[in-house]
Order: sequence, then C-alpha cells, then structure tokens
Amino acid sequence: MTLAQAVTPCAVVDLDRVEANCRGMSERATRLGVRLRPHVKTHKCIEAARLAVAGHFGGITVSTLAEAKHFAAAGFDDITYAVPIAPARAGQAAALAEEIGQLHLLVDHPDAVAALARAATGNRLSVFVKVDCGYHRAGVDPSTPQADALVDAIVDTPELELAGLLTHGGHSYDCVGREAIKRVAEQERDVVVAFAERLRARGVPVPTVSLGSTPTMSVAEELAGVTEVRPGNYVFYDAFQAAIGSCALNDAALSVVSSIIGVYPDRLVIDAGALALSKDRGATHAGEQGYGVVADLDARPLERLRLESLSQEHGIIRGDADRLAAHRLGDRLRILANHSCLTAAMHDELVVVRGDRKVSSWRPVRGW
Ligand SMILES: Cc1ncc(COP(=O)(O)O)c(C=O)c1O
Repeated sequence: MTLAQAVTPCAVVDLDRVEANCRGMSERATRLGVRLRPHVKTHKCIEAARLAVAGHFGGITVSTLAEAKHFAAAGFDDITYAVPIAPARAGQAAALAEEIGQLHLLVDHPDAVAALARAATGNRLSVFVKVDCGYHRAGVDPSTPQADALVDAIVDTPELELAGLLTHGGHSYDCVGREAIKRVAEQERDVVVAFAERLRARGVPVPTVSLGSTPTMSVAEELAGVTEVRPGNYVFYDAFQAAIGSCALNDAALSVVSSIIGVYPDRLVIDAGALALSKDRGATHAGEQGYGVVADLDARPLERLRLESLSQEHGIIRGDADRLAAHRLGDRLRILANHSCLTAAMHDELVVVRGDRKVSSWRPVRGW
C-alpha cells in the first residue's frame, strides 16, 4: 500500500526518520556517559521501544500502568512508571512489581510512601523521589526540609527501597532556541545532582540520578553526576520541537495523511480533525502556528497554507487563493504533527512507511 491508497485520516510513521532519531539520541547518551531509559509514552508501541533501547541496557520509562503491563508482556523487564503514584493504585502497582523484573515507582508525598508500604506484598518496592527542578508540575523542592523528610521516610520503610532521584525539565518547552534550552538543561542537572550529593554527604545512598526531556537531552553538553536520562518525544520529534530548536522540521517522523473533502475559494476542508491530530497548538512564541504543518504527500511543507481550525472530524486550511486553488477535492495532504505524543495517542494503528510505501503497522497501547 502507498500513502495515495491509504484510508484517511491515517497516522503515518516515517521509519527512516525514526531510526535516525533513535541513533542520534543513543549516540548522545553514550557520549555523555549516561544510561538511556527512553520514555515510551510518545508512541506506546513495542516496535518503536525496541528501536529506542538498541545498544543500551533495555530499561524504559512509562506514563501509565497499562503501558507497564503491555511492555512487560513483550519482555521489557526494567520499567520506571514516571508519574507520581495515586494511592488508590498502589495495590495494582505492587502486584505488577511481582511480575516484572524491576518496576520503579515515583512519589513526591509522604502519603504515597505510606500507601506503597501498605500495598507491598513480597519483595521491597523500588521507589524514586520526584524532584522539582523548576518545571513546577510535580516533585519536591530540594531546598525544603520536606524533601529530606520524604527521602528519610522511604529509607526508614522496610517495605521500600530508594531507587534514587528523578526529575524532568519540562519547562524546556517554554524555551526559544538552543541556548535557552541549554540553560534549562543545566538547571535540570544542577538541581538534582546537588540534592543527590547532599543526601550522600549525610550517608543516604542514591543509586540513580535520573533526568530528561527531549529538548534538554537534545542540547545538553555535560551531565556529570547524572546516571540515566529519559527523553521520549525524540523518537518522532515534531513541529513543536522544531519550533523551539530541539530538531529540524525534517526530523519530524509522525504525520497524518488526510483527504481534501471540501474546496472553497477561501479554504480547504480536510478529513483530519481534533480526533486525528489532537488539539495541541504547539509552540506559540512565533505567533499563531496552526494545528500542524501542512505538507504534500512527500512531507514537504506547503508554504502559505495554514491549518487554522479543527472540529471533531474536520480541519480547515486557509491561505492565499492561488495556493488553495492548486488543490482538488480528494487530493491528499500530509499534516506534520505539532505534538507527536498526543497525535499518536489518538490512533489505533500507526502505518509505518519507508518513502511512501507501507512496511509495517504499529499498535499503540491504550488506556491507563
Ligand atoms: C517524568 C517524565 N520523564 C520524561 C519525559 C520525556 O520527556 P519528552 O516528552 O520531552 O521526551 C516526560 C514527558 O512528559 C516525563 O513526564
């Protein structure tokens, strides 16, 4: 099957780009002397995870317990669930930990420590402390006594084992340009490494110091004190990453092929709406970017056409009249995803291509 024959809307993965992206990050991690534990939430697909861990120790990061179960069933046996555990799910996590070689959990509150201690059945549960390095989404502030108290609570709980410290510089997504991202990468590293050193100085063993986002890991130049990194989006990259400076637009590996279902003097209508693309606007620093980059079937961006609005199953493209007039009802367009993690998660199947020919089909795991 070729992309001209695909039933639209259809999520498409460019395998050459995925392989190049995986190779690039794998080499970066090796050069920087850290273990690569890629986050699989971007694609939620076994095949993509295998490409991402190639040449490394095989550990992965997940964002749902459903992912943990799915990837464990496929043979991944060292998994970090990198979202603070909900106390009500501690029992499920503890049961899963009995089935998986190593499952690491995440806490940033003493009540979660208590819930895990109650839920533990046999072996000790491996637990990371989530550290806030400046993103202010989740995690303890290491400058507060609560951060030390949380570490001590884990160390003092016989049912638990301190895996180490884990942070995520997600505020790198607010950056414009590589220099700005580099500063966040330094902050991400400095905050978590300083906390690890302070804990070790008072006798607390901190085996793993884990950090990473795709922007910071795409530019970081030095990671002394860090033991592992967890970027995920880089497997696909996307228009958002290109706009902030993590990659080039032609690294973007995920797109949605759509058909033109309406032709008007002032607009084109395509059959890819919010349920095919997600409704992420991507980077906003350069003004209104639209809901993805409009491209031809060969993934070449079409200048002066903008995907301006989405409803559930419709996308509206506007642009210069002569550009619009070049397209006919039934023609196909390829929309390069703004935020590949969200777009991929909208689909039951990702059609994997080399050039424009389907070579495989990947199925993201769904649910929580
Ligand atoms: C805790 C954690 N680690 C790693 C990542 C991977 O970051 P990115 O999506 O920028 O690759 C994420 C993404 O949200 C995350 O939440």
